[in-house]
Amino acid sequence: MPNFVDEIHRRRTFAIISHPDAGKTTLTEKLLLYGGAIHVAGAVKSNKIKKTATSDWMEIEKQRGISVATSVMGFDYWRASGGDNSTIYHINILDTPGHQDFAEDTFRTLTAVDSVIIVIDSAKGVETQTRRLMEVCRMRKTPVMVFMNKMDREGKDPFDLMDDVEKELGISVTPITWTDGQGLKFTKSYFLNSDEAQTLPSETQDLLSIYPEFDEQAYLDGNLAPVFYGSAYKTIGVQELLDFFVEHAPSPRAIEAMERRVDPLEEKFTGFCFKIHANMDPNHRSCIAFFKICSGRFERNVYYKHVRKDQQMRFSAPTCFMAQKKETVDEAFAGDIVGLPDTGNFKIGDTLTSGENLHFKGLPSFSPEMFKYIENADPMKQKQLDKGVHQLMDEGVAQLFVSQMNGRKIIGTVGQLQFEVIQYRLEHEYNAKCRWENMAMYKACWVESDDEEELRTFKTRKAQYMAFDKEGRDVFMADSAYILNMAQNDYPHIKFHFTSEF
Ligand code: G4P
Repeated sequence: MPNFVDEIHRRRTFAIISHPDAGKTTLTEKLLLYGGAIHVAGAVKSNKIKKTATSDWMEIEKQRGISVATSVMGFDYWRASGGDNSTIYHINILDTPGHQDFAEDTFRTLTAVDSVIIVIDSAKGVETQTRRLMEVCRMRKTPVMVFMNKMDREGKDPFDLMDDVEKELGISVTPITWTDGQGLKFTKSYFLNSDEAQTLPSETQDLLSIYPEFDEQAYLDGNLAPVFYGSAYKTIGVQELLDFFVEHAPSPRAIEAMERRVDPLEEKFTGFCFKIHANMDPNHRSCIAFFKICSGRFERNVYYKHVRKDQQMRFSAPTCFMAQKKETVDEAFAGDIVGLPDTGNFKIGDTLTSGENLHFKGLPSFSPEMFKYIENADPMKQKQLDKGVHQLMDEGVAQLFVSQMNGRKIIGTVGQLQFEVIQYRLEHEYNAKCRWENMAMYKACWVESDDEEELRTFKTRKAQYMAFDKEGRDVFMADSAYILNMAQNDYPHIKFHFTSEF
């Protein structure tokens, strides 16, 4: 049995991020196959929300049951090629939704991982969405590896692709594997015992030699991305990626709380909620709150402190996720994700600890980009609507604002699809009907100031633009860039924040 320290050191918790269709699902599936976690290709596919079916909510609904089990895919893995094969690594892959309207979900998932693998379609290069995700990684100094997928097809020149990554993602690169689409031709000496290893033509080797050698510290600091070429579909370069990954990717890293830095090896348990999945089974109104364990060991039936509520809670049926199965567990360690059955006690960002008052930083709350008034379309179901809206907001589906002037509710999202999801879920999970009313809105800004007098004047003068967020904080709802600029010029002592986290 590994001891406490080894348990944590052997964990690798990461997310695969990509533009839709680049091959994230295919790659995830191949990684699970290597881990022996699944036995047939196609098993993960069913988890995928089809990007094309933007209005087919029945389909999403059907898939939600599956997607919760596969939100985290955990499996054990031994290195097969090169290096040390005595360690049994425990890998947790966190799933991220591909559709850009759910980007907030992905951003939040990134707070719970210690590294990421970015998948790029070699025919397309780096796409906008990937660039945005990379910005979050850069902010958090998350170590990044890049998998250039679909090398079995005609695509861009491999060197151009590397340039593209350097420029578009703003990170230095170093190639680790190389392929002509048929099999791997290695550039580095890490995988010497692979049967397929061949030598490259000398001119390619010359070109490759201009890139820096892999430097683990530079990678861990988020300054250097090792690049792998391959094909997830044809299973070329996948094992090499996985073997390199387990050897060099970080085990759970220290996490900053407002109060102090929390080291994963501290024995006392701490964790935060980064995701809530409500109503998986409409008959049972069950929610699962996903907690990332930041330090120590989490145990079943032990009392922990729910910091926001200042309450002791214990959990008799915490679940961990092994590939596609969800299992009750007795203990879990820093780096793991546990699912806690919830009846409305948790919100995203909540902390559980062995007793300490801690608040973890950095759960991003993104500035909503689309706003609509939400109206009740069935007067008999007001209560159901209110409950549904509040629960969905706690789940982080969108953000709720309430006008300070007339009490009307405004929902802010990052994409149109979220409005459709909310409407659908209100109807099917809460038996409530809503209507949307368009509104002119440019940006929601959280306002604060040390100058109380100026803030008071501002709020009085701008009363028609003021709203509360769900925590009761003041939000200035500017309906145009002009109004916002004016406000910023006229009230120099007020700070305007574009996300709720400041
Ligand atoms: P995503 O999760 O990032 O959205 O992408 P996904 O894995 O679903 O892959 C998107 C499409 O690209 C799929 O084809 C998949 O088979 C294909 N693909 C993935 N990796 C490779 C690769 O290495 N080479 C080639 N040639 N194709 C690849 P599809 O037609 O949408 O689905 P399917 O019919 O294959 O299921």
